[in-house]
Amino acid sequence: MNRRHFIGSLASAGAAPAFATAAENEGSSGSEKNSLKVLSPPVVQNPTESSFSVSWMVSGTASGWVEWGTSEALGQVSRPAHHGLMGLSQYALAARVSGIPKDAEIFYRVVTVPIHYKSAYSIERGVPLVGEIRRLRLPCADAASCSMVVVNDTHDRNETIAALSQRVADLDPDALLWNGDAANTFDDPVQVARICLTPGQDPQHAAAGGWASTRPLFFTLGNHDARGQSARMLPEVLTPWPLTAGDPDGLAPTPQGAGRYCFTKRMGPLAIVCLDTGEDKPDSRDVWGGMAAYEPYRESQKEWLIKALQAPEIAKAPYLLTFCHIPLRGRPGDNDGMGETGYAGFSGFGQQLWMQTLVDAGCQMILSGHTHRSRIDEPSDAFPLYQVVGGGPQLDRARLIRIHAERHELQVIIEDVQGQERERVMLYPRTV
Ligand SMILES: [Fe+2]
Repeated sequence: MNRRHFIGSLASAGAAPAFATAAENEGSSGSEKNSLKVLSPPVVQNPTESSFSVSWMVSGTASGWVEWGTSEALGQVSRPAHHGLMGLSQYALAARVSGIPKDAEIFYRVVTVPIHYKSAYSIERGVPLVGEIRRLRLPCADAASCSMVVVNDTHDRNETIAALSQRVADLDPDALLWNGDAANTFDDPVQVARICLTPGQDPQHAAAGGWASTRPLFFTLGNHDARGQSARMLPEVLTPWPLTAGDPDGLAPTPQGAGRYCFTKRMGPLAIVCLDTGEDKPDSRDVWGGMAAYEPYRESQKEWLIKALQAPEIAKAPYLLTFCHIPLRGRPGDNDGMGETGYAGFSGFGQQLWMQTLVDAGCQMILSGHTHRSRIDEPSDAFPLYQVVGGGPQLDRARLIRIHAERHELQVIIEDVQGQERERVMLYPRTV
């Protein structure tokens, strides 16, 4: 049997091929018609107890799917499609896996196939590139403990991302949270895919390694991630969270695809809430050319936040932390980003809309970035919760925040890129 047809017939029957192609470790199909390459490891995102998304970068026109199961035999296939069209891209593919048994260990791999689209009735499929099988365990709500690593403001700095991703690999946390400003600007789709999907990749094999291929990545948007014409394609790469019943319409990141970037997640004793502080200047500033609409977006997030914090798994969690890119508390004299000059040192809009709701819900700490200088703000009468601000893009300013939550205590450790501890905060369970 022709090898290409054999793989294709298995795939169309919904079964997972039991072997990898010779191109698996090469990252290229070798096709003359379509020099397909897989340019990133898969990036796992938006995990629920029974589902998750995977995105990966490609070059050359490609389609693809995810094969998965609860053993290395795989056996299940998730194919991205919308209104009858299978996914097709020259930059990045994304698929959502659902129906995972509770607390199951998951094995998965991505399969990428070159597509030569000659005309509506003449579409040729090339030889699929079958990725390596990876083992994934998603954070679950009833775990005894939870570990997270938080990074921020990497701003497309290769040396900083390399140092942070090596530390993530060493620490092997349950989840990674990227707290905004992955980019300086997103000027074209290839740049969006490269910045968002390649961190931690093996320098020798583009599709190998990855800082979020065996653990989920949580992403909160920074103000720089909203800049550049191609910022509008971010949802194709960093996929939004599925909407839930009652979510305001204004949260959807694209008119085509429903989903949101603000989210809550319960992981063992820890509940997190993640918000999008948006741009650092008012929507009315001339520099936006009338193209900014963050003020109604933040209002929609307040409406969502009030309900999200009432969910029992969040309201009753022993610990509640909030993540957002721009700090919600400023230092004396800091610009609140609401006036006619300068830019936000803290989000006055976010503070006015969300702070009291977070305090009333018993939030113990806000974790932010944006200022490029790490600091800790102690709880005060006005703001009775900690605020931890991460570091900057330069190696000497970059920080990695380790969070480890157990039933009796939660540690927040701020490290430099050498892994040296700089500061530490301990939290104890809330009385809820
Ligand atoms: Fe930044």
